[in-house]
Amino acid sequence: MIDMYAEATPISDALSLEPVGEVTIRGWIHRKRSSGGKIFIVVRDRSGAMQCVADRSTIGTGSWSSLEPAYLESAIILRGVLVEDPRAPGGREMKVSEAVVFNSSEQFPITEYQSTELLLDMRHLWLRSSRMRDIMMARASIFGYARRFLDDNGFIEISPPLITKAGGETGANLFELDYFGSKAYMTESSQLYAEAMIYSLEKVYSLAPSYRAEKSRTVKHLAEYWHLEPEMAFYNNKMSMELQERLVSTIANRLAGEHEGLLKRLNVEIDPLLAIKPPFKRMSYEEAIDLLNQKGAKKVWGDDLGVEEERLLTEDEENPLFVYNWPKEIKAFYMPVNPDDPRTVLCSDLQAPGGHGEIIGGSERIWNLEELTARMEELKLKRENYAWYTDLRRFGSVPHAGFGMGMERVIKWLLRLDHIRDAIPFPRVINRAYP
Ligand code: 4AD
Repeated sequence: MIDMYAEATPISDALSLEPVGEVTIRGWIHRKRSSGGKIFIVVRDRSGAMQCVADRSTIGTGSWSSLEPAYLESAIILRGVLVEDPRAPGGREMKVSEAVVFNSSEQFPITEYQSTELLLDMRHLWLRSSRMRDIMMARASIFGYARRFLDDNGFIEISPPLITKAGGETGANLFELDYFGSKAYMTESSQLYAEAMIYSLEKVYSLAPSYRAEKSRTVKHLAEYWHLEPEMAFYNNKMSMELQERLVSTIANRLAGEHEGLLKRLNVEIDPLLAIKPPFKRMSYEEAIDLLNQKGAKKVWGDDLGVEEERLLTEDEENPLFVYNWPKEIKAFYMPVNPDDPRTVLCSDLQAPGGHGEIIGGSERIWNLEELTARMEELKLKRENYAWYTDLRRFGSVPHAGFGMGMERVIKWLLRLDHIRDAIPFPRVINRAYP
């Protein structure tokens, strides 16, 4: 009898093990058919899939009677001898000598062709598909590359609160909460808290969810997304842009270098990811508007860019593109005025190529108390909610800059996904918070 908790060999290792011999594998039944006293099953684990054959005349009755009724997706552990078989996926097949089915699954509700809506309703089960597994593996690596890059560059990771009293951006898209009888909000950005922490840690980042109650039904908006927010003391936006292009290139290059098989399965070309290198092209907002108008858009100075303009702007680009110094009116309250053109503020957005949209928003921060309070008054922000934030400009204020990168936007772009919801396991979008 196989010990249910015995060490098992990952399938990808079993497929390359030398010499070929007896192994124990475990996973879930991916495919199954029976014919002439044999059961053919494909077992999947997170590393791969293996074809296995159980022959009624050679395996014990206990093993046979647990295998025979098992539906797809049953969890299983198998022991047997591997034999070379060029027709099998991976070139090897297991002749099963013993099998234990942990829990015979009910009939699995997802079959080959299903509507997108059903797959979203069944997200908790659809996450087992090879495509979703590959995306989730890539996601974990991308989170790791981002963290490692910042750790290696002298940043300290911080843990911001997710419940706040005030918005960190426009405040127009906040999810409101009843916080023990008073109003509070789910955070839309951890930036203000990251700013508080540079006074002791100098270079910090948070990697945490942000919440946006945007009523946008687009392929790049989530109501809950993971936000990487570095904040740096003694930095200006030019230095911040240099850091951003190094961060983004490192993530793209490492993904391409370490996940060739996974990227091939997702039909993502490796070479364009390896070719992403600093410096990225830089274009002022004004130049971007001119370029858009040359391409047939009808934009005037002061307009924000929508999905179509982002596509037009980046359709011919292979690297991401910075658009810097935007009009003050369409950017957040904490951005300082550009001394060379007071209509604009010192900020930049990083646009992914191929119309995947803005992946990073960043800026310098107003560090002068009078300038900050004047700007907050102009925008009628409630003083009492931001008193702690303005305090930061009273005690040891320092020039600083930072940025926020939408992790799912980056994943969508790097993996060429059609919709951002596939970049996160349980997407929260305007019409869905289930499962
Ligand atoms: O440009 P945003 O709104 O900037 C901030 O929140 C700043 N406080 C960040 C900072 O400087 N620390 O958002 C930053 C990034 C965007 O570039 C985009 O990648 C992502 O967050 N983002 C979203 N991702 C998914 N769904 C949404 N609804 C998003 N809204 C913004």
